[in-house]
Amino acid sequence: MSVSPDEYREGLSHFASGITVIAVASGSEKHGMTATSFASVSLIPPLISVALEKDSQTLQILRETHAFTVNLLARDQEDVARTFAIKGPKPFERIPHSAGKNGAPLLEGCLAWFECSVQSITDGGGHEIVVAETTRIELGAGEPLVYYRRAYRSLKG
Ligand SMILES: Cc1cc2nc3c(=O)[nH]c(=O)nc-3n(C[C@H](O)[C@H](O)[C@H](O)COP(=O)(O)O)c2cc1C
Repeated sequence: MSVSPDEYREGLSHFASGITVIAVASGSEKHGMTATSFASVSLIPPLISVALEKDSQTLQILRETHAFTVNLLARDQEDVARTFAIKGPKPFERIPHSAGKNGAPLLEGCLAWFECSVQSITDGGGHEIVVAETTRIELGAGEPLVYYRRAYRSLKG
C-alpha cells in the first residue's frame, strides 16, 4: 500500500518551509537549484541534509567537488527562487554573488549562508540524500521567503 503522487504532493503542500538555493561551482562553471528539502540532521557534528533529483546538474557538480552552499532566501527573493527552479543553466551573470571559502557561490541578499562539505550521498528513490558538514555560517538580515500550499509567501501570510 502506498499513496499516489498526487496525494503525496497534496499532503506535503501542507508543510510550510523556508526556501533555499543549493549552489555549486567547478572552475568557472556555476550552477544551483531551488530546494525546500534542506533540513538539520545533527548538532555535533553540525550536519545538514538536502534531497536532490538524481538527474540534476547541481548534483553532478556536487558529486565532483564535494562542496556547496545553502543560501536561505529572504522575502524579497521570490524571483531568485523562481529562476533557480528552472532546469538547466542558471543566469549567474545577472545574480549578484561572491565565492564562499569552499569555492561555491554565495548569493547576495540572503537571510543566511551555510558552506557545506559533503559527507555522504545515499539513495532516496528518485532523489539522492546528501548529508554534509557545515564548515561556515554567515548571517544576513530580513524576513524569510516561505513556501506553503504551492505558493511563495511571507510569515504574515
Ligand atoms: C519551491 C521549490 C522547491 C524545490 N525543492 C527541490 C528539492 O528540495 N530538491 C530537488 O531536487 N528539486 C527541488 N525543486 C526543483 C528544482 O529546483 C529544479 O528541478 C531545478 O531547476 C533543478 O536544477 P538543475 O537540474 O539545473 O540542477 C524545487 C522546486 C521548487 C519550485
